[in-house]
Amino acid sequence: MIAARKEIRMAVQHWLTRYHTGVAAMDTLHDDLFDRMDKVYSDIISKAGPVMVAKQVAELTDKVIAHLDEEEGEMRTAKYDGLEAHAANHRALRTQLQALRKRADAGGNIGTDALDALNQYFTNHIKQFDLPFAKTMQQG
Ligand SMILES: [Fe+2]
Ligand SMILES: [Fe+2]
Repeated sequence: MIAARKEIRMAVQHWLTRYHTGVAAMDTLHDDLFDRMDKVYSDIISKAGPVMVAKQVAELTDKVIAHLDEEEGEMRTAKYDGLEAHAANHRALRTQLQALRKRADAGGNIGTDALDALNQYFTNHIKQFDLPFAKTMQQG
C-alpha cells in the first residue's frame, strides 16, 4: 500500500511541469489550474473511476475556460496588441478542453496521456502567450 502510494506520488512529480510569468495574480490562478490537473491525473492513476474523473474534468474545464475568458477581458481592457494571436491559441485550448469533457461525460476512458497533452499545451501557452502579456502588464 505504501509502495503504491509512493509510486503515485513519483508519477505525479514526474509529470508535473509548471511555468511562472512573474505576475503573482496570474501565477496563482495558473497554479490552481495546474493543481486541478494534478488531481485529475492522480485520480486516473489511482483508478478513482470514470464518474470521479468526469466530475474532476468538468470542474477543471469550467475553471480553465473561465480563466481564458477573464484573461481575454484583461487584454481587451489593456488594448493589448497581441490579443488576436493570444485569443486564437485560447480557442484551440477551449476546443481541446471541450473534447476532453465530452469524452469524460460520455463515460469514455480518460488516460494520463490526455492530461499530459493538456498540461503540455497549457505550459507552452503560458510561455508563448501569457508571458509576453504579463511583461506588458508589469511595464504598465
Ligand atoms: Fe492565455
Ligand atoms: Fe493564462
